[in-house]
Amino acid sequence: MDFRTPGVDALAARVIPDQHFVLSADDARDVYFADTRMLDAKQLAHNRYRTNPRSLTDHLIEALCLRGTEELLDLGCGNGFVLEHIRPHLASGHIVGLDIAPGVLDAARHRLAGVATPCDWLEGSADDLSAFADSSFDRVTAIYMAHYVPDLPRCFTEVRRVLRPGGRFLLCTDRPDSMVEMWDVHYTAMREMNAPEHLFRATPKARISLTNGAEQLAPHFTSVETRTWQDQLQFADPEPFLAFYRGQNHCCASSKPGQDLPAEFFTELEERVRGKVQAAIDEDGYFALTKYTGAFICS
Ligand SMILES: C[S@@+](CC[C@H](N)C(=O)[O-])C[C@H]1O[C@@H](n2cnc3c(N)ncnc32)[C@H](O)[C@@H]1O
Repeated sequence: MDFRTPGVDALAARVIPDQHFVLSADDARDVYFADTRMLDAKQLAHNRYRTNPRSLTDHLIEALCLRGTEELLDLGCGNGFVLEHIRPHLASGHIVGLDIAPGVLDAARHRLAGVATPCDWLEGSADDLSAFADSSFDRVTAIYMAHYVPDLPRCFTEVRRVLRPGGRFLLCTDRPDSMVEMWDVHYTAMREMNAPEHLFRATPKARISLTNGAEQLAPHFTSVETRTWQDQLQFADPEPFLAFYRGQNHCCASSKPGQDLPAEFFTELEERVRGKVQAAIDEDGYFALTKYTGAFICS
C-alpha cells in the first residue's frame, strides 16, 4: 500500500536536517518517560488517525513469527502497549519487560496485571542485560527505543548473547524523514520566529534508522532482514494533532520550556503550527503525516 503524498520526497530533501538530536537515556527516564502521558498521546494518535488498516502491532506480530510458547524480552517496553497486543500470541510463553523509566514500567505492570502468561518487569538499561543468562530468550524486541540506548554495540552484543540459537531480534524504527509534513510546519514556524539554530535538528531516531540500522546490526548477527511499511496519519481537527505534536516537539526536537527558551516561545510556536495545520485542513479536508516505518529482523 502506498500512502505517499505527491511531493513528499522533495519536501523531505528540503526540510530534514542532516544532523540529528541526541537524547540521553537520563532525559528519557527523568523527563520524557517519567510518566506515561506522552507515550499515551503518541500511541493514541498513531493508532486512531492511521489510514493503513494494519496497525503497528499487526506488523510486529507477523514479523515475530510466534508459536505461542516463546520466551520474549521487550527492551524499552514503555507502558506495555505493544506487549498487551503481543501477549495473546504468547499464551503459553513468558514475557519480560525491561525499561529504564520506573514510571512507565509501572504502567506496563498494571496493564498486564492478571494475565495468565507469566510476566516479569525489570528496571534497567538495554545495554546491560547481565541480569539474564546466555540463551535465555527466543525473541528480543526493541520497538522505537534503540536511539536512546547509550552504548548500542554493547546492547547488540548482549542481545546476541541472551538470544537462543534460532531466536530473533526485532528492532523497529523509522526513516528520518517519516512524518516530514509535521517537521515542515515545525521548522517553518521556528524560522518565522528566528529560533536558535541548534533547534533545527532531525529526530533522534536518525541515530539508528531504517537508513543506517542494517550496517550497525550486521557485525552482531548472521542475518539482518529489513521490512518496511507505510502509513499516513490524517487529522481532520488540529487539536488531536497538536496533542501529538507537543510530545514530538519536546521529545523528538529536544526543545522544552524552561531549558533555554521561555514558555511564551512554545505558546507562539504552537499557535503558528496550529494556523498552518488548520490551513491544510481547510484546503484538503485533513492534515496528513506520511510515515515510513519498519523493522530489522536479526538472527
Ligand atoms: C518511545 S518509547 C517506546 C515504548 C514502547 N517500546 C512502544 O513502542 O510503545 C521509548 C522507551 O524506551 C525507554 N528507554 C529509554 N532509554 C532506555 C534504555 N537505555 N534502556 C531501556 N529503555 C530505555 C523509555 O523509558 C521509553 O519507555
